[in-house]
Amino acid sequence: YKRITVKTLIDMKANGEKISMLTAYDYTMAKIVDGAGVDVILVGDSASNVMAGHETTLPITLDQMIYHASSVIRAVHRALVVVDLPFGSYQSDPKEALRSAIRIMKESGAHSVKLEGGREIKESIKRILNAGIPVMGHLGLTPQSIYKFGTYTVRAKEEKEAEDLIEDAKMLEKVGCFAIVLEKIPAALAKKVAESVNIPIIGIGAGNGVDGQVLVLHDMIGMTHEFHPRFLRRYLNLYEDMTGALSQYVEDVKSSDFPNESEQY
Ligand code: KIV
Ligand code: NA
Repeated sequence: YKRITVKTLIDMKANGEKISMLTAYDYTMAKIVDGAGVDVILVGDSASNVMAGHETTLPITLDQMIYHASSVIRAVHRALVVVDLPFGSYQSDPKEALRSAIRIMKESGAHSVKLEGGREIKESIKRILNAGIPVMGHLGLTPQSIYKFGTYTVRAKEEKEAEDLIEDAKMLEKVGCFAIVLEKIPAALAKKVAESVNIPIIGIGAGNGVDGQVLVLHDMIGMTHEFHPRFLRRYLNLYEDMTGALSQYVEDVKSSDFPNESEQY
């Protein structure tokens, strides 16, 4: 396996090869994701929901993100690993943003970082890029600003918001981001953005006219089961399969079926 780099991804877009991306937050899962040939692994701040059970992504800390990222990094041989800068670790000023990005790179060994937002965090992105740290942008639905919007509904349906999003995407390309995640926006708009820039656009709920797709691992393997957005394709139903297996175990212990002769010393 040849390591995927930010350069590989830009070449993939140029060659019309789609980019596959999934989240992972721990060693065991990351090993499976990497081994399956997924191009980019995102240590998302969705760990706040998926791993810690918080209602939003806001509570997860930089230290916790570094813990998840370092576990993932130990498992990965091929994929490019991107780590979310969590809420509160980059919004106050560019120096703080750079300090947080450096901590992630140094303490976890990750390959790049992702920040939510456009023009409002331009200076922070430039600082991080100037230090040689690759940055992935994230526009559209940005879960760290959920309380500003109040809902997780589709973004940029209005013309003004759509125009701003295109401008932000062009700005992110201009300052030097290597890719952009577009979350939950109309497919036609996402396609237009992908055609307006030379860096890869990775969509989640952004249709098929973009350069790659990302999903939250635990959602796409059906470990979570109370979340049914239209964009989510479930490849497994692990919630049900695991519940079945685990109740079988309980039954086997209760009935003294487990362990049997060959399962003891
Ligand atoms: O944290 C996350 O999982 C993400 C993806 C949904 C893009 O940012
Ligand atoms: Na995220």
